[in-house]
Amino acid sequence: MAQIFTRRTNMIPVIAPVIVAIVGGMLTFVVWFWFSPKHTDVGYKPRQPIPYSHALHAGDMGMDCRYCHNNVERSAYAGVPPTNTCLNCHNLVKANSPKFRWLRQAKNEDGSINIDAESTPWKRIHKIADYAYFDHSAHVTRGVGCVSCHGRVDKMVEVKQVEPLSMGWCLDCHRNVKHYEDRGFDPALVVRPLDRVEVTDMTWGPDHPEFKNWSGKAANAYADKLDPPIVQCSGCHR
Ligand code: HEC
Ligand code: HEC
Ligand code: HEC
Ligand code: HEC
Ligand code: HEC
Repeated sequence: MAQIFTRRTNMIPVIAPVIVAIVGGMLTFVVWFWFSPKHTDVGYKPRQPIPYSHALHAGDMGMDCRYCHNNVERSAYAGVPPTNTCLNCHNLVKANSPKFRWLRQAKNEDGSINIDAESTPWKRIHKIADYAYFDHSAHVTRGVGCVSCHGRVDKMVEVKQVEPLSMGWCLDCHRNVKHYEDRGFDPALVVRPLDRVEVTDMTWGPDHPEFKNWSGKAANAYADKLDPPIVQCSGCHR
């Protein structure tokens, strides 16, 4: 008996590292799965068919978001531009760049657009579940700027998701955009004066020249005139 007991005890140094390795592996998996960008979606940045850069086009070149996302004020969807929009310039500019393998496929030999290639197969980044309803036009026509939900896209070489787009995140803004005083929430950061500042202006905030004329009373008065943003379940789950 004494000998068996001793033998078993001797096994501990051998088994312990194996158990530690298995448990450690499981923990790593759980942490990796739940907290990695892919699961929470924040930071999600897939590889695209053309290495298109917002930092170059919307940032350095100063193109307005609506040149390409031209439905954003009229429709629920912002939409991604058809290949044709790119060819407005890239028929001439950098037309032979190896980065445009896809755009060349978009053209027939006579230079006309190949219908099959009308839209580039861009990988979708921002996506909420089908059971929830979101409408771009309802937000941007009230003065909620792109930057509030998408961050400084004009500085992104590759677009990535910067906000969780979860129910808690939607409700946080909906509950606080009015009744700011109770909660210390500044509506001036969320809604801008549309007659003076474009909804696509990414620099909106305390450093913006118009901000001081708007924060405080003016923004509060404007927010008070908005319909209370929806917090009833049926508003977003239709
Ligand atoms: C020259 C055209 C062009 C301009 C200008 C432009 N975009 Fe885009 N945008 C695209 C294309 C093409 C994609 C799809 C490829 C990608 O994700 O980079 C895209 C993707 C996006 C996405 C991610 C879409 C998804 O799949 O979830 C967001 C958000 C976005 N743009 C916001 C903006 C904002 C904000 C501006 C203005 C600051 C802007 N865009 C200006 C062409 C443009
Ligand atoms: C208003 C004109 C204009 C439009 C529209 C436009 N671009 Fe550009 N694009 C440019 C210019 C200018 C450059 C910089 C060229 C240079 O570096 O000399 C550029 C550069 C690029 C480059 C880098 C090319 C290289 O070889 O370095 C890519 C890729 C690109 N654009 C993709 C796109 C895509 C995709 C679209 C459509 C969603 C698009 N562009 C729409 C003007 C435009
Ligand atoms: C109140 C938050 C909010 C604002 C403001 C906002 N977006 Fe979005 N955007 C979202 C959400 C949420 C999605 C995902 C929608 C879905 O899955 O139906 C999205 C998706 C997108 C997409 C890809 C899918 C689509 O709808 O076609 C593009 C492109 C985009 N936004 C561009 C813009 C631009 C450009 C602006 C400013 C003019 C803007 N967004 C303003 C929250 C916002
Ligand atoms: C940064 C603030 C902000 C965020 C974030 C936000 N919203 Fe809103 N939402 C508003 C404002 C402001 C209104 C307009 C209220 C009004 O109609 O006067 C609004 C209105 C709406 C409406 C009513 C649309 C209509 O047809 O009148 C819906 C639905 C909605 N939001 C859904 C969402 C969903 C879903 C999300 C998250 C994915 C979201 N919102 C995130 C500020 C926000
Ligand atoms: C302002 C818009 C909005 C309102 C109001 C809203 N939801 Fe949601 N809800 C969402 C969004 C956005 C998601 C997440 C979709 C995703 O994960 O892609 C969601 C997700 C959910 C989920 C899935 C689990 C989860 O938390 O992700 C349930 C269940 C749910 N909502 C129930 C409700 C109920 C019950 C109410 C009323 C008390 C309600 N919702 C009100 C926007 C809303």
